[in-house]
Amino acid sequence: MTILITGCAGFIGFHLSSELVSKYKIVGIDNLNNYYDPELKKNRLKILKNKRNFSFYKIDLLNYKKINQIIKKNKIKHIIHLAAQAGVRHSINNPGAYFKSNIEGFFNILELSKVNKIKHLVFASTSSVYGDNKNFPLKENSNTDTPLSFYAASKKSNEVMAYSYSNIYKIPCTAVRFFTVYGPFGRPDMSLFKFTNKIIKNQYINLYNRGNHERDFTYIDDIVDGIAGVVNKIPKNKIPFKVYNIGNGKPRKLIDYLNIIEKFLNKKSKVKKLPLQAGDIVKTHADVSLLKKDIGYKPKTSIEQGIKKFLDWYVEYFK
Ligand SMILES: NC(=O)c1ccc[n+]([C@@H]2O[C@H](COP(=O)([O-])OP(=O)(O)OC[C@H]3O[C@@H](n4cnc5c(N)ncnc54)[C@H](O)[C@@H]3O)[C@@H](O)[C@H]2O)c1
Repeated sequence: MTILITGCAGFIGFHLSSELVSKYKIVGIDNLNNYYDPELKKNRLKILKNKRNFSFYKIDLLNYKKINQIIKKNKIKHIIHLAAQAGVRHSINNPGAYFKSNIEGFFNILELSKVNKIKHLVFASTSSVYGDNKNFPLKENSNTDTPLSFYAASKKSNEVMAYSYSNIYKIPCTAVRFFTVYGPFGRPDMSLFKFTNKIIKNQYINLYNRGNHERDFTYIDDIVDGIAGVVNKIPKNKIPFKVYNIGNGKPRKLIDYLNIIEKFLNKKSKVKKLPLQAGDIVKTHADVSLLKKDIGYKPKTSIEQGIKKFLDWYVEYFK
């Protein structure tokens, strides 16, 4: 079986491709954009390119024709779509980037899935679709009608667009809602990377909502386990569409997260406590019982273990 993984040079795409390449042929695509340092993307790719069953094409999601050729040439019937403009805060000043990659780009993926009779399209959604829903833990059928940011709106749109394609064209689709993913080779725009970098460089950390955010921080290997588990769990209902949360199920305060980093680095941070930012959600907490029931999902890495693994990687990578 050959799987097309979009966004393979990204944080999650890299780890997922590394894992699945031992079982399947992986064709990866990515436009290697400069939302954050493309060197990190290139270094992830270097590792992937050493694997025998991995091939890479540098392409934008908007290039329908070229992606169509790649799908046909490689006889692809399975797609895991991770490429997107990520990040809640960046969407405040750059909604257009989200419209292009997440809405137009996603439409291309749906059309390509239809035209090529894809057997299963698994795609990345986010815990941000829950907005400030307070019915914790958040279940897949909880209300997602009030996204607080355009990033969340773009991902919610993906879910409803895919639902209609599942209904009309019978394309089996699975949306996976990730909850704050962290780990080695993580994104420089996310808290773990930023906090670590600033502590080491003695710079001030902007701590929004005074660190009182709660996040269901989920270690990358658990996210990969969840995605790998749903790949062969093809929805068979009349409308073959399914949504799963992939989280840790144990929310922690951002300030605790920072304290764990300080403990391992053996160094105190300098903090600027700031109010809640527009578009930010106060708390996320995943109910993962559906994924547990369907694929036996069980998150394995505690936040202490996960942060330690990240810091070990960080120190080695930047030495
Ligand atoms: N990391 C998280 O905590 C998290 C949480 C929820 C959802 N997600 C979603 O998971 C997916 C992967 O996230 P990530 O953290 O690995 O982000 P990432 O930015 O590291 O990876 C996304 C990759 O997609 C590529 N890309 C973006 N736009 C593209 C386009 N138009 N054409 C081709 N390639 C393009 C980027 O170059 C990047 O390498 C995204 O869809 C993101 O929205 C991530």
